[in-house]
Amino acid sequence: MSDRKKLYIKTYGCQMNVYDSERMAEALGGQGYVETQSPDDADMILLNTCHIREKAAEKVYSELGRFKGLKAEKPDLKIGVAGCVAQAEGEEIMRRQPLVDLVVGPQSYHRLPEMEAKARSGEKALDTDFPEEDKFERLKSRPKAKRGPTAFLTVQEGCDKFCAFCVVPYTRGAEVSRPVDRVLAEARDLVERGVREITLLGQNVNAYHGAGPEGETTLAQLIWQLDKIDGLERIRFTTSHPNDMTDDLIEAHGDCAKLMPYLHLPVQSGSDRILKRMNRSHTAESYLRLIERIRAARPDILMSGDFIVGFPEETEADFQATLDLVEAVGYGYAYSFKYSTRPGTPAAERPQVPEDEATERLHRLQALITRDQRRIQDAMVGREVGVLFEKPGRQPGQMVGKSDYLHAVHVTGPVESGALRRVRITGSGANSLAGELI
Ligand code: SAH
Ligand code: SF4
Ligand code: F3S
Repeated sequence: MSDRKKLYIKTYGCQMNVYDSERMAEALGGQGYVETQSPDDADMILLNTCHIREKAAEKVYSELGRFKGLKAEKPDLKIGVAGCVAQAEGEEIMRRQPLVDLVVGPQSYHRLPEMEAKARSGEKALDTDFPEEDKFERLKSRPKAKRGPTAFLTVQEGCDKFCAFCVVPYTRGAEVSRPVDRVLAEARDLVERGVREITLLGQNVNAYHGAGPEGETTLAQLIWQLDKIDGLERIRFTTSHPNDMTDDLIEAHGDCAKLMPYLHLPVQSGSDRILKRMNRSHTAESYLRLIERIRAARPDILMSGDFIVGFPEETEADFQATLDLVEAVGYGYAYSFKYSTRPGTPAAERPQVPEDEATERLHRLQALITRDQRRIQDAMVGREVGVLFEKPGRQPGQMVGKSDYLHAVHVTGPVESGALRRVRITGSGANSLAGELI
């Protein structure tokens, strides 16, 4: 074929989807596709979808509807749905939206090249298996293109925890960890291509237990292996579950200089009654004790979390316990969501909290979180922090990057993308800090 085909991928949901989209683009690169930033000139459109809340899933159908005109103009255009909605509702998508040529679940991406060929030949292609083989090992390896200074690297996928509200164990399947040598090889390759910060990903990344030369390897042991890679300056990981915060991982936060002082540790609720109904298997108290131990190892760590309000049977007193927990922790960042009923999950069967009550609680929680976030961000003024610069800012001569604590920081001055520099923070704005190079 003379002309290269164009691929447009739109990514929804979590960082694991961002990583998967990169890998899918590479896999289809082997089929002659190059990426395009616009659906209008695409030969193939892939939506990498999220099923976590109802709104996220419904977006997919409205987005698909918008491609109707394009497909009428361009009958050769192929439209595919990947990700967690594909896994959960694959056959229904095919039924509801005849525009769709291809549906692929998150564990079958290594089969995309064959599926694309099938779709090209005019057949519908659907694969929502949980294959035995590991998609990561069979996906085409990364091309040696230069990369920006930060990258995601998925090391663990799936979840066996079955929180009563959550679809992830159904859409991503059972928990699996990638072998240590594969992770290290991919990390070295990323560093050779210009990456200086790697964020290790997993739905329960701290449950990592990949096979290594000395047997089963913990996330902390993996981090210490990555620590040895010259040129890799920063390591982060997300998302963690409180029950998998092992002693060696807590210690690593104190001892490993490359491991950044930021920890996303979702708790969901501050009420033990609700935590029990959520099947979270930790209490508010055990979570607070855990944070005490983490802060003993790394006093300046910035804590981040996730919350659900309006979970079935949540009372005002339960919600108050969540506010108390937020007060006690002091989050530098936190993400809060109104409970969304997900078909097939146990919580969907329980008495639901009225929508307006849930909305009102969400606003109160968010006000508290914003206050703390603001206070913690403002307290950075006057301090010196490390900043990894990523790209030019909005003003001429400006460069922006992320601090060790993941705050966005902008400076004016001669500094290149990929430079890790010490910066004195001079001001705190709405969503970012201003600083000057030291
Ligand atoms: N594996 C991570 C996060 C999974 S999903 C963990 O265990 O913490 C990201 C966040 O979405 C969750 O932390 C939770 O706060 C939120 N979430 C998941 N299911 C939800 C639902 N049904 N309704 C509202 N929020 C939900
Ligand atoms: Fe979902 Fe719970 Fe698993 Fe997180 S730990 S992915 S919230 S089931
Ligand atoms: Fe969404 Fe699937 Fe991630 S449901 S949050 S894309 S694991």
